[in-house]
Amino acid sequence: MPTALITGATSGIGAAFAHRLAAKGVHLVLVARDAERLASTADTLRTCFGVSVEVLAADLLVPEQCRTVEERLAARGEHGHPPVDILVNNAGFGLPAPFPHSPVEDEERLLDLLVRVPLRLTHAAVPGLRARGRGAVLNVSSVAGLLPTGTYGAAKAWVTAFSESLRVDLAPHGVRVLAVVPGFTRTEFQQRAGMDVSALRDSVWLDPDDVAAGALRDLAKGRPLSVTGWRYKLYAHAVRHLPRTTVAQRLARKRHAPTGAAAGACESGRPSH
Ligand SMILES: NC(=O)c1ccc[n+]([C@@H]2O[C@H](COP(=O)([O-])OP(=O)(O)OC[C@H]3O[C@@H](n4cnc5c(N)ncnc54)[C@H](OP(=O)(O)O)[C@@H]3O)[C@@H](O)[C@H]2O)c1
Repeated sequence: MPTALITGATSGIGAAFAHRLAAKGVHLVLVARDAERLASTADTLRTCFGVSVEVLAADLLVPEQCRTVEERLAARGEHGHPPVDILVNNAGFGLPAPFPHSPVEDEERLLDLLVRVPLRLTHAAVPGLRARGRGAVLNVSSVAGLLPTGTYGAAKAWVTAFSESLRVDLAPHGVRVLAVVPGFTRTEFQQRAGMDVSALRDSVWLDPDDVAAGALRDLAKGRPLSVTGWRYKLYAHAVRHLPRTTVAQRLARKRHAPTGAAAGACESGRPSH
């Protein structure tokens, strides 16, 4: 059975991936900062699904701790650690304020976790995946990456473009690459970022388990992108095909509207999804 390493596996979309993969019998390496929560997630998955679960507590924003995860990804079976066949780059967070009002240090941390970390982890995993001629990289992006929505949207645009390019590089070696592109998903993301999403309609929200299930289905079908739900599929299609100037003008109107309902604020540059 393959082994998957998932970053941000303690909550939300990462935890949903961990459950879905464990249910298929995939062994796991779980990465996040909260060691206690990781241990409890690992216990549950071992008990429920009988898979082996390693726990790697690491703050990916700390270079030495990120390096430990890179080393685990590069391992080829040494010290009893099976090689990693599936990498899920998922850990992430958002910021409450638009770029001009956000401390530059926070913007930099965001860019680091959403761009530098998946770049480094993927780079560590690729030689082994290529050599074994199988496996997959799943990068959790966002529909925000399709829009001009601050550093968050720009970072997620990078994640999607990076995935599309990596897919071309790795396809001849039998390795699949998928960009997972969720819209608003009920996780701890908005609460951790201190975002007010109370004005959002129920119908915009996705369930993290649907995001993970849809992504694994799309991966099996060899698709490049996984967008969950018909609303977001339609939205992503429209945004990708509208002229960029039209999209930017619509967002600018919302961003500068005098009353800032949460839905408008979220779409208009606050990294809400
Ligand atoms: N929720 C949405 O609406 C939405 C929509 C589109 C895309 N996304 C993307 O989905 C991904 C997962 O987010 P989520 O919604 O599931 O949020 P979440 O529930 O807040 O989960 C975030 C996960 O990342 C981990 N994490 C955060 N900072 C970390 C760090 N420095 N080092 C290691 N792990 C770290 C957290 O665990 P610890 O705190 O224990 O470290 C947690 O397991 C993110 O990339 C996000 O941008 C979310």
